[in-house]
Amino acid sequence: MENLHIWSIAFVLLSFTFQDGLSRRHVRRNPDGKIVGGSETTIENAPYQVYLLLQKGTEYYQCGGSIISRRYILTAAHCVQGIQRIYVRAGSTDADNGGTNYVTTTYIQHPLYNARTLDYDVAVIRLRRNMNIDGTTTKIISLAASNTAIANGTDVYVTGWGATSENGETTSTLMGLNVPVIPNSDCRRSYSSLTDRMFCAGVPEGGKDSCQGDSGGPAVSTSSGQQLGIVSFGVGCARPGYPGVYTNIAAVRDWIWISSGV
Ligand code: ARG
Repeated sequence: MENLHIWSIAFVLLSFTFQDGLSRRHVRRNPDGKIVGGSETTIENAPYQVYLLLQKGTEYYQCGGSIISRRYILTAAHCVQGIQRIYVRAGSTDADNGGTNYVTTTYIQHPLYNARTLDYDVAVIRLRRNMNIDGTTTKIISLAASNTAIANGTDVYVTGWGATSENGETTSTLMGLNVPVIPNSDCRRSYSSLTDRMFCAGVPEGGKDSCQGDSGGPAVSTSSGQQLGIVSFGVGCARPGYPGVYTNIAAVRDWIWISSGV
């Protein structure tokens, strides 16, 4: 009942502030977008994915996240920067309706998160109550083990409700995309400041990428089913020569364990 009330207020506010909040976010953060060149999917194909609505004063931001336990959501540190309240929607293909809602104010950013370089772009969100996990529309994702290298030729499945073109609109229907991981030695040509806490994924000709609003969402190995990355940043979206950059979970795995017990 209390939750319902909070959500109805949130959505009334939303209808006025959502666009504004999103475009401001584009400007203040980095010029990039949501899933580009992917296709519509359903939550059953990515039941670990959640939609996050993040409140900072009267502004709202959108991000993705993944279910790592009944209590914890994994996301990007830049998503929760300065955020006062987080609304989570789990178990729904539609960003605006359905599934189950959770509200929380508790999260931890990686202490080494650097807002300028986006190094250590990882955070955990703690819910006030355990999530319903039904195994079909909601599922816990297993994370890559500490310090494991990503094999050459690995494909990741990236999902989210972010923009479908650079500077485009976000979608209410979940989108998904398969992209190959690019070795860091190659990706450094595009991003000279790439660190070991990051990896890149994309195709040389561009056209396939995550984008604004996808941040914090999961990149899952299509072969092992483990989450390898978190949508972090890029120059624009889906530009040739500028793949998407993801937080490398294997490099921050120990911190996730210390912070969440997962
Ligand atoms: N930082 C963006 C966000 O907050 C996500 C950027 C992903 N960009 C990319 N080209 N892969 O939603």
